[in-house]
Amino acid sequence: MKTYGLIGYPLEHSFSGKYFAEKFEKENIQNCEYQLFPIENIQEFVNLKKQNIAGLNVTIPYKEQVIPYLDELDEHANAIGAVNVIQIKNGKTKGYNSDYYGFKDSLLDFLPKDFNSKALVLGTGGASKAIKQVLVDLSISFNIVSRKDGFDFTYAELNERPAILDDFHLIINTTPLGTYPNVEEKPDIPYRALNNNHYLYDLVYNPSETAFMKAGQNQGAKTTNGLEMLIGQAEKSWEIWNRSEPQ
Ligand SMILES: NC(=O)c1ccc[n+]([C@@H]2O[C@H](COP(=O)([O-])OP(=O)(O)OC[C@H]3O[C@@H](n4cnc5c(N)ncnc54)[C@H](OP(=O)(O)O)[C@@H]3O)[C@@H](O)[C@H]2O)c1
Repeated sequence: MKTYGLIGYPLEHSFSGKYFAEKFEKENIQNCEYQLFPIENIQEFVNLKKQNIAGLNVTIPYKEQVIPYLDELDEHANAIGAVNVIQIKNGKTKGYNSDYYGFKDSLLDFLPKDFNSKALVLGTGGASKAIKQVLVDLSISFNIVSRKDGFDFTYAELNERPAILDDFHLIINTTPLGTYPNVEEKPDIPYRALNNNHYLYDLVYNPSETAFMKAGQNQGAKTTNGLEMLIGQAEKSWEIWNRSEPQ
């Protein structure tokens, strides 16, 4: 039996647990299980990696804390400063960030090939780090919007000067606003300044059509939610765990 799993704390609702149970069943993948490891302290990871585990996902609060305990770090995970996948081969551990790959692939599917504008990233939390690294690697210039001072724009500044949005045709919501059950919430940007040149990418995936997306659609903008990213990062984890050689 090959054991894969998730470390984090607490682990009550896990997308990955459900996703991999269904994947093993649907694709008739034999002798594999996906376990939840709700560890209360990162030190417990040291014991866990001595057990016969084939690969791990990592979630809050250990995405950064786990890094000093790993033998190697993938270049993107290193640049982002957060790990959500651990490959374990012959007792050696290597950390990856599959949010990076999930977001990159889905963004490339979403944007037209000739996209030639800048991006606004709403929010400055954990998820925004992988998003920013993808934008750097795709050479898409971006500005950051935060409730706090010290970033490129505040929401108040955007509302005072809605024409700023003319320069940013990609707007990415990395805040949790609009997540079920608070489905009426959305980032406080001047939606009236959007038009059919705009692309709105919401990392939120529940509900599948968020208030942010609806407000963009009403102005003619193209929109997508975070489901493709979520599935993409899970599939990337599976690919990383099952590579014949570490890459
Ligand atoms: N689709 C996927 O695969 C995927 C992957 C990762 C995360 N996500 C989703 O992305 C979202 C963000 O995740 P995260 O871990 O980065 O969360 P987080 O750290 O809790 O929050 C992200 C940022 O959102 C802003 N924010 C939070 N509450 C806000 C509010 N009430 N009004 C305005 N801004 C607010 C904050 O930035 P400022 O303080 O700078 O304003 C915060 O740093 C979550 O909904 C998560 O489920 C989706």
